[in-house]
Amino acid sequence: MSARIVVLVSGGGTNLQALLDATADPSYGAEVVAVGADRDGIEGLARAERAGVPTFVAKVGAHATRDDWDSALAAEVAAYEPDLVVLAGFMKLVGPQFLGAFGGRTVNTHPALSPSFPGMQGPRDALEYGVKVTGATLFVVDAGVDTGQIVAQAVVPVEDDDTVETLHERIKVAERTMLVESVGRMVREGFVVDGRRVRFGA
Ligand code: GAR
Repeated sequence: MSARIVVLVSGGGTNLQALLDATADPSYGAEVVAVGADRDGIEGLARAERAGVPTFVAKVGAHATRDDWDSALAAEVAAYEPDLVVLAGFMKLVGPQFLGAFGGRTVNTHPALSPSFPGMQGPRDALEYGVKVTGATLFVVDAGVDTGQIVAQAVVPVEDDDTVETLHERIKVAERTMLVESVGRMVREGFVVDGRRVRFGA
């Protein structure tokens, strides 16, 4: 049976596209049953619509408090009964209501090698620090900023002439492959979180 995935996005959605492409093959073991966003008018939502996948938007500003938004987001996601939630370029921190419902089965992809360079500017911070390798990290979402248990990482070299944009683009190529491979293994093999460590398998 195919696992049900809800993907949350805030932007261009190339990671989402990689998942949409992968899940088109039934042997992948999962389907994207909905795509949610915290804003409208983004290419990520257009990608979902082109693929015939239902979408929803939950804007922070449409709610009186951040907690109300968090509850509304959790309710929107819950309506699609996902086995796994994938944050793919989702530029908001989910809160306690969301984590109460989906903690332990929500993963996020971050464009740096955790625990280095958490936050919104992973590629810029890595470039400014002067590291020679960086990459992408898939992790199980917890209440912190990019602090959850690591599912997978992909390493990318930093070139002398990199800008934030060229580095981020190189990271995203590796990130999409890592995301598709790792989410596929999570849904087909299962996964276990044991302290800080994550392993595939029941
Ligand atoms: C990805 O590199 C993802 O890791 C990053 O945004 C990009 C989204 O690209 N996410 C974060 O920085 C979250 N803090 P995409 O919209 O083309 O998939």
